[in-house]
Amino acid sequence: MNFDFLTKYYSFFIQGTKFTVFIAFFSVILGIIFGTILSLMRISNNKILKVVSTSYIEFMRGTPLLVQLFIIYYGLDFSNLIGGSFGDIASGIVTLSLNSAAYVAEIIRSGIQSVDKGQMEAARSLGMTYKMAMRYVIYPQAFKNILPALVNEFIVVIKESSIVSIIGIHELMYNADTVRGVTFRPFEPLIIAAIIYFILTTSLSRLLGNLERRLKLSD
Ligand code: ARG
Repeated sequence: MNFDFLTKYYSFFIQGTKFTVFIAFFSVILGIIFGTILSLMRISNNKILKVVSTSYIEFMRGTPLLVQLFIIYYGLDFSNLIGGSFGDIASGIVTLSLNSAAYVAEIIRSGIQSVDKGQMEAARSLGMTYKMAMRYVIYPQAFKNILPALVNEFIVVIKESSIVSIIGIHELMYNADTVRGVTFRPFEPLIIAAIIYFILTTSLSRLLGNLERRLKLSD
């Protein structure tokens, strides 16, 4: 093992890490927005909305992310539409967020449904309307189940974002592989990348632990 190449190529890892965090962050934010809409569609009483969102969720969870990425990258051809590397980045973020939305939708739905039925009944028997009960009783409790799971989704997306290196987006995995190519060292650059991913994900799960402890305090 020889890590001397780092003095020359360390900036590749720094840039790559920044970009990985950027891509994962925006994908999760968009995923949360779209996932919230999907989950509301799924728990609504409208049959059509329900079928549309359920099929979407099943499809996205039942097909590989790589296939989805290729469908969007080659199929929608953002690079032609908005031009060059920005188009590639858009394909990457769009794919990750469309994929993440399906998982987020399930997180939100199960978060809402995990609140005990008695809570709604108690709120209604106190004279609250359905809307008030949802807003003041159900959602605040659901939030406690949902928030930690969303942080977890962020962790997953950070790891999954390495897939977009395949379409030439210069994130951490791509840059590590570039360094592997120029240094002719097959192991070390990838081990550095793995360590950086590991640091990112473990710091986030630390945060998650703290968050969960805090949310428990108010129980
Ligand atoms: N590795 C999975 C696949 O190839 C993607 C899982 C994405 N998971 C998520 N929670 N966003 O399909």
